[in-house]
Amino acid sequence: MKKVYVPSPTCERFMQSNAQMRAIMGPFGSGKSTMCVVELVRRAMEQEPGPDGVRRTRWVVVRNTYQQLRDTSIKTFEQWVPHTAGEWRQMDKKFTLRAQGAPYNGRPTRVEAEFLFRALDTPDDIRNLLSLEITGAWLNEFREIPIEVPINLLGRLRYPSIGAEGVGPTWTGLILDSNPPSEDSAYYKLFEEDADLESLGIEGEESDFTFEVFKQPSGLSQDAENLDHLPGGRQYYLRMVEMARRTGKDESWINVHVHGRYGFVVDGRAVYANQFKESTHVWKERLKYDPQRPLVIGADFGLTPAAVIAQMMPNGRFLILDEIVTEDMAADEFARLLKSKVMYDYDNAQCRVYGDPAGMQRSQVDKRSVFDVFRSHGFVVVPGHQSPQIRVDSVRAALSRLIDGHPALVISPGCNMLINGFLGGYRYRRMKVSGERYAEKPEKNKFSHVHDALQYVVSYFYAPVLKGDAPMDAPEIEYEDSAKGYVGISDDDALDLTVPF
Ligand SMILES: Nc1ncnc2c1ncn2[C@@H]1O[C@H](COP(=O)(O)OP(=O)(O)OP(=O)(O)O)[C@@H](O)[C@H]1O
Ligand SMILES: [Mg+2]
Repeated sequence: MKKVYVPSPTCERFMQSNAQMRAIMGPFGSGKSTMCVVELVRRAMEQEPGPDGVRRTRWVVVRNTYQQLRDTSIKTFEQWVPHTAGEWRQMDKKFTLRAQGAPYNGRPTRVEAEFLFRALDTPDDIRNLLSLEITGAWLNEFREIPIEVPINLLGRLRYPSIGAEGVGPTWTGLILDSNPPSEDSAYYKLFEEDADLESLGIEGEESDFTFEVFKQPSGLSQDAENLDHLPGGRQYYLRMVEMARRTGKDESWINVHVHGRYGFVVDGRAVYANQFKESTHVWKERLKYDPQRPLVIGADFGLTPAAVIAQMMPNGRFLILDEIVTEDMAADEFARLLKSKVMYDYDNAQCRVYGDPAGMQRSQVDKRSVFDVFRSHGFVVVPGHQSPQIRVDSVRAALSRLIDGHPALVISPGCNMLINGFLGGYRYRRMKVSGERYAEKPEKNKFSHVHDALQYVVSYFYAPVLKGDAPMDAPEIEYEDSAKGYVGISDDDALDLTVPF
C-alpha cells in the first residue's frame, strides 16, 4: 500500500524553506518528527545525480541518547521508510535507501541515500559525529542537544563532493525538531534574542550562517495541527491536560507540551502561584469584545511601556482582551500605538486609560507629563493605585472570585506575556540565603511591565473588594467630542491619591 504524506501548514512552510538551519517546535505529537523524515528523503530524491546517474547523499540522524534514538527516532523513520526499501546494517546503525530516481536529462537515475543514526551518550560519540562528511542532518528533539553540535555540524556539510563523486550537494543543511526549549537555553537566545554565535561561546562561521524557526500552534487552538492523525483528534490534547493535572504535572509542563510555548525556569515564586490556574483563567478561544461597552485599559509607562486592553462586564467580570508589550518606546509613540490599536482592532471604541501615577510627573525637558501626552492624543487618563500591595491583592481577589460560575478575571489566549508572567515569569526572586526566602517585591523583568499595567486597571475596580465592598462599576463615559469618540479628563475622574510632585 502506498503511503501518502500530506504536511500540515507549518510543516509545509518548513519544507519550502531552503535556510541552512531550520528548526520546528510545537506541542507533543504535532507531526514534527515525521515531517523531518519525509523532508530528508525528499531532499535525497532531489539530489542531482553524478556522472554515473546515481543521486548520492549521506544524512545523519542525531538524538541525545541511544535509547531515545532506538525507541523514538528510528521508529519514526521506519514508519515512513520500511527496511525493505534498502539495506539496514545494525552494526553501523546505518540504513541505505535504494530507489529508482526521477529521470535526469532524459536518462534514468538511481537514488542511494545513507542514513546514519547517532546518539550523544559519550564525548567520543560527539567527536565521531563531528568527523563525518555529510549532506545534512536531522537533530531530533534538539532541546536535549548542546547547541555546539548543530553549529559544528555546519562545517561538515560536504557530501557528495565534485572531486570524488563528480557533483556537489544540491541542498545541504540541518533540520531540527523539538518540543520548545526553555527560555534560558542557548537555542532561545539564538532564535529570539538574535544572539551571535560568539556571545553564545561558540566558534563558528558566522558569515554564512542562516536559520529560520517555525512554530506550530497550540494543541488546544483552532489551528492545532496533525489532529487527524492523533488518537481522539482534538480530544488528544484535552486528555493530555487532564492526565497532566491528575499526575501532578505543573502548569509550565502543559505550557510547553500542549501549547508549544517556550518553557521558562521558575527561579523564585510566582506572584499569583496560589490563585492562577491556566485552565481556569485562560479562555479556550479568543475573547470577543462587546462593542456596546467601553474599553478599560491599564498602562504602565517608563522606558518599556506596556498596556492591557480589557472590558468590564455589568456583573463585574473582567475580560482581558489584549496586551501591548514594547521595548524602549517613548510616551508619544506608545500613545500612538495604543490609539491605532483601539481604532483598528476595536472600532475606535470609547475607552479610558488607568495609568501608572508616576506618569503624572512632568518631564524636566518639555514640562509635559506622560498623562499630558496621552490626553493630547484624545485619551481619558486616570491615575491607578499607588500601593503595589493593594494592586497585587486586587488581582488576587479578581482571580479568586467567581461570578455566575466563572472566574471574575479571564484572559484571551493570545496574551502570551501576561500568561507566561502568571505562570511564573512574574515572580518574587529567591534570596541568596539558606532556606526558602523570597524578595518582598516582585522582580522587575520583562513580564513585570505588562503585569503592572494589568494591576492598574484591575485594582481601580477591585480595590474596594479588599474591604468587603462590591467591585466598582464599569465607567459610563460621556461623549464630548463624538467625532473622535474620546473625551478629556474631568476632575472627578481622578482618584484621591497623594502624588509626589
Ligand atoms: N502527515 C501525516 N500523515 C499521517 N500521519 C502523520 C502525519 N504526520 C504525523 N503523523 C502521525 O502522527 C503521530 C505523531 O507524529 P510525530 O511523532 O511526527 O509527532 P511529533 O511532533 O514528532 O511528536 P513528539 O512531540 O511526541 O515528538 C505519529 O503517529 C505519526 O505517524
Ligand atoms: Mg518527535
